[in-house]
Amino acid sequence: MTTVAILTAAGSGTRLGRDLPKAFVEVAGVPMVVHAARRLAASAVVDAVVVTAPHRLVTQMADVVSGDPQVTVPVRVVAGGSTRQESVAAGLAAADAADVVLVHDAARPFASADLVRRVVAAVRDGHGAVVPGLPVVDTVKAVSAASHDFRTPPRPAATPSGAPITVEPVTSTPDRALLRAVQTPQGFDRALLERAHAAAAGRAADAHATDDAGLVEALGEQVVVVPGEESALKITTERDLYLAALYARTDA
Ligand code: C5P
Repeated sequence: MTTVAILTAAGSGTRLGRDLPKAFVEVAGVPMVVHAARRLAASAVVDAVVVTAPHRLVTQMADVVSGDPQVTVPVRVVAGGSTRQESVAAGLAAADAADVVLVHDAARPFASADLVRRVVAAVRDGHGAVVPGLPVVDTVKAVSAASHDFRTPPRPAATPSGAPITVEPVTSTPDRALLRAVQTPQGFDRALLERAHAAAAGRAADAHATDDAGLVEALGEQVVVVPGEESALKITTERDLYLAALYARTDA
């Protein structure tokens, strides 16, 4: 069986407020995308990596990832699309030799080799779509889109800015014990993921799923969760970068 990992790294990462795309932002002196690629290679279950890069940075991405001595698997770099879903589709088209496909975000640079192995093992065990997930510690409310804003009376001591406060009606409280916060890498039988992306390409842009497993669910096919890990956190803000630096120090 051949396993190819699509490493999505074509996002701009504007919420980090840097002047370079997030995947190139360094943690402990190493770009996030390289941290992620190293761990995919170290898993010893990934045969090749396809990286999706911002259009104008394809060559630079290839130099940075292939040039790292710890990335010991073949690396191919393709231009990503304007959404993550389009980037994954571009990566999938380039992953021609694969039976098993992993989709992993460069924004999760410390997902461990163990986690990669766990996901691949579950796919090889016959599960067509596998996601790592963690129990949810907060109580989660579903809200309706019918929100409204109000302003507090001008009492400077209470709300100095007088900023509007948004009020959202709660529609339900799902049982927390049955919720999982999902991560990447997500693993798939290649034919199933291709079918999911083909179906999604025909849907309206605002119906885009926020992960690949969501596209498989939309087909009515079964997705399963395996245990995730805290170190696979997604780096979105400056605060996450501090946490990631801790993982860089403690990571094997
Ligand atoms: O922006 P966000 O953090 O949700 O992106 C998740 C991952 O998807 C990141 O690794 C990012 O580089 C990637 N991405 C992509 N192509 C896009 C948008 C995001 O490869 N058009």
